[in-house]
Amino acid sequence: MALRELDVYPRLALDVVAAEGSELILADGRRVLDLYGGHCVNTLGAGDAEVAGAFGAQWRRVSFVTNLLDHPPRAAFLEALEANLPAGEWRVFLSNSGAEANENALKVALDATSRQRVVCFEGAFHGRTAAAAAISDVARSGFPLAPFEVTRLPWGDGAAARAAMDDTVAAVVLEPIQSMAGVRVPPEGFLVELRAACDATGATLVFDEVQTGNGRTGRPWAAQTLGVTPDVLVTAKGAAAGLPIGVTVLSASLASRLPSGILGSTFGGGPTVLAAACVVQRRIGEAAFGARVRTVSRALGEAALRGPVREVRGRGLLLGAVLPEGLGAGGLRGALLEHGILAGTSNDPRVLRLTPPLTLTLEEAARLGTALDSIDGTA
Ligand SMILES: Cc1ncc(COP(=O)(O)O)c(C=O)c1O
Repeated sequence: MALRELDVYPRLALDVVAAEGSELILADGRRVLDLYGGHCVNTLGAGDAEVAGAFGAQWRRVSFVTNLLDHPPRAAFLEALEANLPAGEWRVFLSNSGAEANENALKVALDATSRQRVVCFEGAFHGRTAAAAAISDVARSGFPLAPFEVTRLPWGDGAAARAAMDDTVAAVVLEPIQSMAGVRVPPEGFLVELRAACDATGATLVFDEVQTGNGRTGRPWAAQTLGVTPDVLVTAKGAAAGLPIGVTVLSASLASRLPSGILGSTFGGGPTVLAAACVVQRRIGEAAFGARVRTVSRALGEAALRGPVREVRGRGLLLGAVLPEGLGAGGLRGALLEHGILAGTSNDPRVLRLTPPLTLTLEEAARLGTALDSIDGTA
């Protein structure tokens, strides 16, 4: 019997053999418009020429070296990242995935505050490793115990957050816009309230920008789009345009309280991945790039508000199309696939997610509207 992977993903029946920009090319030659973008990973679209050049050149120059040695792509990446970060003095730790970057953020917050309690939110998703799963809203995390005390609060409830916060809280961790939960933008003032509560109690405010980061909301970080700066900003997914990366950015004052030796990684910060990641930071940092994302966002939002869709929410190119009662996002995704468009579902059965490459064109955005017009709402 042929060796098979565990059956953990319900795979779609699409035989993808190639991809270009925002399109997947199937074995039979059909092209599918990818409005899912590999779960927010394909920041610059498939096969971006500049990433290919930087990646290939770096691979030939120095493919990999131990973290005991420094290399030019690290300095270049840090410089490009710094230019995009909110004002402040920051330190960075590099790893390989979103879950790992969140684990490191938690480790830093727990260690620096010498506290044991972490506040998180219903609907959140932060990854599947032990600490990240403990603060995620997953039905079965696979771990019998959380590695610290967890207080889970309703999303957007400022009063509940105020009541839960005291000097036992090490960290408050959240996605500034909850993605998997169905693209839930925080209510006005909520993030400001969390920032104030953390300042008052000495807790660490952690933004998980694994999906919202890297230009997705029309600025480099949702922290900037929503106007609140955390103490720790975590990203991954689109940060290296399709190569594995985890980035934990922490305030210099938090970093100064860390003993050395609690963080480490074999692959994190390797030169080839950082050569690609540097291209991403430079591109998303261009003012015209963000402006374009905001323009295409408006076009995609208008296109999405057609056919059976009742509301579109989100920021930039992280949009949720909300369906009326009785209609399922799974059914609508199937109907869109028949029109050659791939979209994402979410943990809310009524919300379809649109997280395309940030290089999506206006013409491609319009294709969604045409497809939705011909879907009658019985999907
Ligand atoms: C907001 C958020 N945080 C963390 C993760 C975990 O990232 P990874 O799968 O790279 O571990 C995800 C993955 O979907 C995510 O959406």
